[in-house]
Amino acid sequence: MQTKRAHHLPWRRAGHLADNNLSADDVVRETGWVFNNETGDDLTLKEFVDTGDKEVQRYVRLLELQNIQFESSTLLEIGSGIGRMTSAFTNRCQKVIAADVDSAFLERCRQTVAQFGRIDRLNTLHVVNGRTLVLGDDTVDATFSYITLQHCQPQDAIELVNEAIRVTRSGGTIVLNFRTWVLSDVVLVPLGVAMRALWKVSIIGPRLARWRWSTRIGWQANRLNPNTVLAKVAPALCEIKVFHSVKRKLKVSTNSQKPIKTIPTNRINPSHWWLVAQVS
Ligand SMILES: C[S@@+](CC[C@H](N)C(=O)[O-])C[C@H]1O[C@@H](n2cnc3c(N)ncnc32)[C@H](O)[C@@H]1O
Repeated sequence: MQTKRAHHLPWRRAGHLADNNLSADDVVRETGWVFNNETGDDLTLKEFVDTGDKEVQRYVRLLELQNIQFESSTLLEIGSGIGRMTSAFTNRCQKVIAADVDSAFLERCRQTVAQFGRIDRLNTLHVVNGRTLVLGDDTVDATFSYITLQHCQPQDAIELVNEAIRVTRSGGTIVLNFRTWVLSDVVLVPLGVAMRALWKVSIIGPRLARWRWSTRIGWQANRLNPNTVLAKVAPALCEIKVFHSVKRKLKVSTNSQKPIKTIPTNRINPSHWWLVAQVS
């Protein structure tokens, strides 16, 4: 059964738009902005996937993932959307499991990968309740998630991190992107709460959630800092690295006695941070 949570509404609306006979290019023109924030009547699926290819390359370098043997790995991507980055992962990995809360996105993801990646290497996984992965323990070698956990309620995001650790084999790697506090959040966070409340109002709410400006205000459902996340999951991890923007200070300390390396870099959005770690 589909979730009724307000913060899932933009995905359901975009998923609904994707769930029809539109061409793949039209789907990118209609809904692509929810994934890479680009709009325009001339967008194509190819350009959309190119942005994903470049980001996969960039993050492999930036997050020091070159040692992962992608070609012999199974990789889980949490929040794959319509396959913007999934295609690149299928070209690199032995197997990819694309997971998303929206089943129409997963169908489009299959089409995207069929065109630009390796469909024979792809499985999809519907995250029906937005927090549980129906996968066995130690199923994958690496779990990746980009601009997804910030859209979940805090407890769902933490649960997905726990799930990522559960399904990733011991010695495997988790690569998870989060959003944390920045100054503008003093205004944005209360506005987001108000917008999500409006989305629950019958008839106008679901319509409102289709509009880009409204979605951009209301779709981020949490701000999680590294301490909050690591306090819950550090005991299950080792080789913990936190990558963040040089433009902001991010204090990291946990009670778990685990050494944590913080790595400031100038190619990460100041509101973002990444947790890269091995599963113990
Ligand atoms: C901003 S998009 C990013 C998609 C993809 N990572 C990319 O960069 O193109 C966020 C994606 O996360 C999915 N999502 C949101 N909440 C989720 C949840 N609780 N579990 C799984 N997927 C979720 C949405 O459906 C959407 O496809």
